[in-house]
Amino acid sequence: MTYPVNPRDIQLTEDGQLKHFLSISGLPKSLLTEILDTAESFANMGEQSVKKVPLLRGKTLVNLFFENSTRTRATFELAAKRLSADVLNLDIKTSSTSKGETLMDTLQNMEAMHADLFVVRHADSGAAHFIASQVTPRVAIINAGDGRHAHPTQAMLDMFTIRRHKGDFAGLKVAIVGDILHSRVARSQIRALNTLGVEEVRLVAPKTLLPVGIEDLGVKLYTRMDEGIRDADVVIMLRLQKERMSGALLPSESEYYRLYGLTTDKLAFAHPDAIVMHPGPINRGVEIESAVADGPRSVILQQVGYGIAIRMAVMSMAVSGQTQERAKI
Ligand code: CP
Repeated sequence: MTYPVNPRDIQLTEDGQLKHFLSISGLPKSLLTEILDTAESFANMGEQSVKKVPLLRGKTLVNLFFENSTRTRATFELAAKRLSADVLNLDIKTSSTSKGETLMDTLQNMEAMHADLFVVRHADSGAAHFIASQVTPRVAIINAGDGRHAHPTQAMLDMFTIRRHKGDFAGLKVAIVGDILHSRVARSQIRALNTLGVEEVRLVAPKTLLPVGIEDLGVKLYTRMDEGIRDADVVIMLRLQKERMSGALLPSESEYYRLYGLTTDKLAFAHPDAIVMHPGPINRGVEIESAVADGPRSVILQQVGYGIAIRMAVMSMAVSGQTQERAKI
């Protein structure tokens, strides 16, 4: 199922402040930079003896994950706790949603408990936009991944990783390799990279995993790994999303690994200082060799850590935007 994405920009207040975080699409460079700068102020908090600030004290976050997650759900929970919010993780498998309650009924019940923030992961594209268009104005919605559509906090933690390791975005060549067709992460990354002004975004994949019309987003397409990652400053590997593949899109996993798996040999085509990223979960020996995933050029585990700072930034900015909006009513 696909929910219609409301063309009206419902993410920003009249003053251009964040009030929901649903997709990168339509957000200006200044706002993406504000998210990165705010995250920077939280980035070293994990090393402090008291890992808490009172920015969301008295606020309640509900994690609503209708699809599996390890990294996103855990880092949203940690981020909210570091902001001093109360956190409720709704277990969808044991909630009344599994007894036939609709998404809206579940949300209305959560709203009745005066939750302030919903973090939503859903298999249907547009689900987070739909929820944001239905909830009462005081509730902020953060999209934690909807179908193939968007995963904006993942894209922002990836931008944070790139900025930390490469400095400026200008002049960077970024290659995104793998299952672009099913990837909400790639769609959000492409938008963020182009908004932040990298020199080149390249997509590298077999033709069957490149969505029709994706070049309209301002990317270069490659079907050969050596050409696609040549001189790249950043190589982002994507997971093969077998759970979303309905037909035979690939000859075999071993053939895919031979042609598109990132091995030490293939990484030699990239810039000598290139960093290797992956949103996780990684499939060793399918899209990446262990020697690369665990090697000196890999920043895959740093990405996970930066996710806490980015999610703290997005949640605190959205709650602040909602509070300012409400003050005007
Ligand atoms: N990157 C990512 O979304 O991972 P999870 O599915 O574990 O949340």
